[in-house]
Amino acid sequence: MTATPPPRFPAGFRWGVSTSAYQIEGAADADGRGPSIWDTFSHTPGRIADGSTGDVACDHYHRYAGDVDLMADLGVSAYRFSIAWPRVQPDGTGPVNPAGLDFYDRLVDALLARGIDPVATLFHWDLPQALADDGGWFARDTAHRFAGYADAVAARLGDRVRLWITLNEPFVHMTFGYGMGVHAPGEVHLFGAFPTAHHQLLGHGLAVQALRARTTSPVAIANNYSPVWLRGDTDADRAAGAAYDALHNRLFTDPLFGQGYPDAPGVDSTVIHDGDLAVIASPIDVLGVNYYNPTGIRAADADAPLPFELVPLDGHPTTAFDWPVAPDGLHDLLTGLHTRYGTALPPVEITESGCAYDDVPDADGRVHDPERIAYLDGHLRAVRRAMADGVDVRGYFVWSLLDNWEWAEGFTKRFGLVHVDFDTQQRTPKSSYAWFRDLIRAE
Ligand code: FCB
Repeated sequence: MTATPPPRFPAGFRWGVSTSAYQIEGAADADGRGPSIWDTFSHTPGRIADGSTGDVACDHYHRYAGDVDLMADLGVSAYRFSIAWPRVQPDGTGPVNPAGLDFYDRLVDALLARGIDPVATLFHWDLPQALADDGGWFARDTAHRFAGYADAVAARLGDRVRLWITLNEPFVHMTFGYGMGVHAPGEVHLFGAFPTAHHQLLGHGLAVQALRARTTSPVAIANNYSPVWLRGDTDADRAAGAAYDALHNRLFTDPLFGQGYPDAPGVDSTVIHDGDLAVIASPIDVLGVNYYNPTGIRAADADAPLPFELVPLDGHPTTAFDWPVAPDGLHDLLTGLHTRYGTALPPVEITESGCAYDDVPDADGRVHDPERIAYLDGHLRAVRRAMADGVDVRGYFVWSLLDNWEWAEGFTKRFGLVHVDFDTQQRTPKSSYAWFRDLIRAE
């Protein structure tokens, strides 16, 4: 596929695939699961591109054993999944629903039996609806409830989970869910959404402390990052770039490393209580990095509503999402984190990296996805270059194992190494699956 073989990675480098609960599990009513904000949102007409819901998704709840077989054949050493809070606490608080935790118990044991490290994310956006009814992440109490939930999950899965991840992409949850309203819970507060950033981070810090009391496994957060590629070289362009960078890349990271909040649009100190920043800075063992693309930025017009303008990055191939394919952005991002945080930066794992293409089985039922192979090859080379430049990267998880339910895009965006026919639930490994398997074997 590519001219030169991929670079070698150090022994023990973690090779994985990532998924999330609402995107694959289905079984929305099974075993006492309560409703989540994504059930409410996806069932609201007009919210999802194809009008679909996650009610069935990939039916992974019932098919997890076969999906673990697919991972074992792929040869990954780790699987990052998320735990659905509404399965564990249907109302987001109070007594645990043991039947909900049983599912993750079975999954974790199936992974361990195949030599695959379970990597569990506690919150990948599917907040119990009952908590949304009480204000969602606008309510400070949600942070405390999250810590209670983390405690309950860790009491059951403790050290069998080999890496704990508190939150997935709190920036995206704040911006899309509470800022622009294009994700659940669908609220539009623009920069007024800052309390949902602070309370997520507070919940993260409290959950780190709860996990420490239950497990010796390492603890992380998975943040979304997008390096700013300036398109303009005036002082106003640079100021716009700094504002966007503060919002997307620093707001959820500076406070983790004891630097407090950056000067980002919307930061409101009235919601920050004494002691919060120390809780948020509770030490973590790994920084999870989710990367898809850089963002082109220039100064906005004086009367524009935002202090920056997002501009397309020309000259790059694009995915089915129209996202530019720019592996150099991942190198920039990793070396930038290393430069910005220095010795405060713990080891990094790439907890999501991948791309959507319109993959269709051919007449023989095979699915060829050379663009995905090129994407992964380019991004792995970028990781290796960043490692050669001194960044301590310990793992790389492909988003995603399966084609799945892609939030507001429904079933229209396919990110999997494995094709899923959503009518029959048939799984068909794509050519990228074979490529990734061969790469792991060769390492
Ligand atoms: C990330 C999400 C993940 C998936 C990918 C494509 O932002 O964490 O659930 O939607 O994007």
